[in-house]
Amino acid sequence: MVDRERSATRIERDVETLAGPAYTLSDRAICRYAYTDAYRATLDYFARALAELGFEISHDPVGTLVARNRPAGEPVFGIGSHCDSNRNGGRYDGTMGVVAALEVCRLNEELGLGLPLQLISFLEEEGSGFGQMLLGSRIMLQRVTEEELRESFRALDDGRSFWEHAEAAGHEPARWRESIHVLDDLTGWIEMHIEQARVLQDTGKRLGIVTAIAGYVHADVTVHGRGDHAGATPMDLRLDPTLPLAETILELERLAREAGKGTVGTVGEIEPAPGLINAIAERVRFSLDIRGPDDDAYRAVARDVAAFAEQAAERRGMRAEYAQRQTLAATPLDDRIVGALEQAAAATGEPYMRMHSGAAHDTMCVAERVPSAMLFVPCRDGISHSPLEEASPADAALAAEVMLNAIAALQAA
Ligand code: GLV
Ligand code: MN
Ligand code: MN
Repeated sequence: MVDRERSATRIERDVETLAGPAYTLSDRAICRYAYTDAYRATLDYFARALAELGFEISHDPVGTLVARNRPAGEPVFGIGSHCDSNRNGGRYDGTMGVVAALEVCRLNEELGLGLPLQLISFLEEEGSGFGQMLLGSRIMLQRVTEEELRESFRALDDGRSFWEHAEAAGHEPARWRESIHVLDDLTGWIEMHIEQARVLQDTGKRLGIVTAIAGYVHADVTVHGRGDHAGATPMDLRLDPTLPLAETILELERLAREAGKGTVGTVGEIEPAPGLINAIAERVRFSLDIRGPDDDAYRAVARDVAAFAEQAAERRGMRAEYAQRQTLAATPLDDRIVGALEQAAAATGEPYMRMHSGAAHDTMCVAERVPSAMLFVPCRDGISHSPLEEASPADAALAAEVMLNAIAALQAA
């Protein structure tokens, strides 16, 4: 029998500890990303706790944490998430999933279940270090190129390459292709995460069993105008790149609404150069984040908004360039693992539902190789990617129990 209260206490202690000053770069939010001291301290925290349970600790060639309680070559069931954060993040997105996975490992040990487990904490899920979401799992699944790792992926802080940073942190990026072997022995994978929306809260459910994850396009548009004096330049003599930007933001809203089927579009980064109050920008770069469960629908929006931005710039005598950063298709999850989670959830008598994930997760990559599913717990008012994020350790304890029982059932089948 799982003592859920004891699990909740341990989960709360882990989450609170990892919100402390040694584990974040900011005193106003959780901010941690690859190769910083705060990030290393967080991985060390998990590594120590897992080593105490007898797990063997290793890292893939770029620093994704792997811990297993069976020797390499023996089948294991995978659990975990990521413990890097959004730059203005909360204590739950990602981290509570790794904490819940650690709790599954503890329960397995205490209850003497002997389940063969492998915990993974993926590197750079949020893209806070290098602007590349799901970077660790994309490296693992070979969904990047060597040129990107050596050259194009650059640190937001200092512009040095991912490669250089990984080497400076003591890793071996030259062996990045070997990262895939982390998945070699996995018979299945479950990631627990906060929902990041308010469906569970509003419907009074404690668990969401995820059946599919929305796909996305991440891209940048740069509009080239002409830098001029903001006071001295008459309105009809300007090439102001922020105007096609403004038109494109509104067009994105229109296109996403028109596409329906859960399609959403966001301009989250706007970077005028030089970005001064008294100067018309020379150019402006803005990001596009376009997603949905229907690949055709959100991809059409990305295509149409790119064409619109180019035309909007041209109409005003300027030029716009569209560059895709990356894209991942919508990912259906595995029926058998979804079914095992559902049975385990039903057995607790607690309210749960099936749902899809609007946010992206490393599970999108893992699922290409390993039968995978996800389990969501509610977060207060759906808030995430914010220091105001809040989730309940009691729900995470329930999720840990459900994961444990689902894995046990899958092993016995
Ligand atoms: C991941 O954090 C996402 O933005 O979906
Ligand atoms: Mn996350
Ligand atoms: Mn996130």
